[in-house]
Amino acid sequence: MATSEVNIFCRQMSGMVAYNGYAYEDVERIARSVLGRVKSRPHIGIICGSGLGGLADMLKDVEIIEYADIEGFPVSTGSGLDHEEVPGHAGRLVFGTLKGRQVVLMQGRAHLYEGYDVHKIILPVRVMKLMGVKILFVTNAAGGINQDFNVGDIMIIKDHFNMPGFAAVNPLVGPNDDRFGPRFPPASQCYSSRLRKIAKSVAERLEMNDFIRDGVYCFLGGPSFETVTECRFLKVAGVDATGMSTVPEVLVANHCGIEVCGITLITNKCVMEYDSTQVANHEEVLETGQKRAKDMQNLIGEIVAELGD
Ligand code: HPA
Repeated sequence: MATSEVNIFCRQMSGMVAYNGYAYEDVERIARSVLGRVKSRPHIGIICGSGLGGLADMLKDVEIIEYADIEGFPVSTGSGLDHEEVPGHAGRLVFGTLKGRQVVLMQGRAHLYEGYDVHKIILPVRVMKLMGVKILFVTNAAGGINQDFNVGDIMIIKDHFNMPGFAAVNPLVGPNDDRFGPRFPPASQCYSSRLRKIAKSVAERLEMNDFIRDGVYCFLGGPSFETVTECRFLKVAGVDATGMSTVPEVLVANHCGIEVCGITLITNKCVMEYDSTQVANHEEVLETGQKRAKDMQNLIGEIVAELGD
């Protein structure tokens, strides 16, 4: 079924919410059209979070396609935390080689808080899958819930907490196409233990031990930062850091068999005390992103260098 037919089918079923996802054939067409415009055939995808867009500067043989020129791709509303490092661009796919490996990098991503449907947010990941991507690095900025974490720490994600998922905000809601993956996929191993091990040993070699952590990332819809009570709740739930992205893309990658490595930059400490005068703010997030950008880029570059083809 094409997208429009799927949508109509879903709306016709009484009591069902509108489904705005893309059918397999639509994703196939988009992937073919993108591949038709570049020479690159990437096996590795990288989604750049705050402060990491500069990774594109490490690529050789660069080919760029603006999201605006790709059917269906979400274009930034300009309010995304992860867009500022591409001034004048609403997001773009950057193809190239990193340490000799062919990669495709997303400079800019869409978020729920921009008003995008979760099915739109994950379209680029499914397009990557059909372009041949096997490994995905997903990076983000987040607030530290774990009070032992410092601003500037880099956390290798070992698991996530999908809070919007409790209310069925999950990109896998809707008709399932088995060509992507199963109806009820397990989610207990979304973050590859193989890649986490490599990430840790690379971090050790790069003498990053002082600021490398591992932990659990929580996805919240935003755009408000968390209340004190919400932060305390997340702490009890076992969360180490919280942000407004990543989980939709990871759920979809996991569903279609892409191996995922998630890396979080702790840009601020979450406020845990009711009388605290400290408040989370966007400027602090961006500033920390810029300070640690080089370390994040080095880490990812060296992990990619360790990977076999
Ligand atoms: N909360 C949610 N998202 C964030 C934060 C935060 O404290 N910092 C960076 N992104």
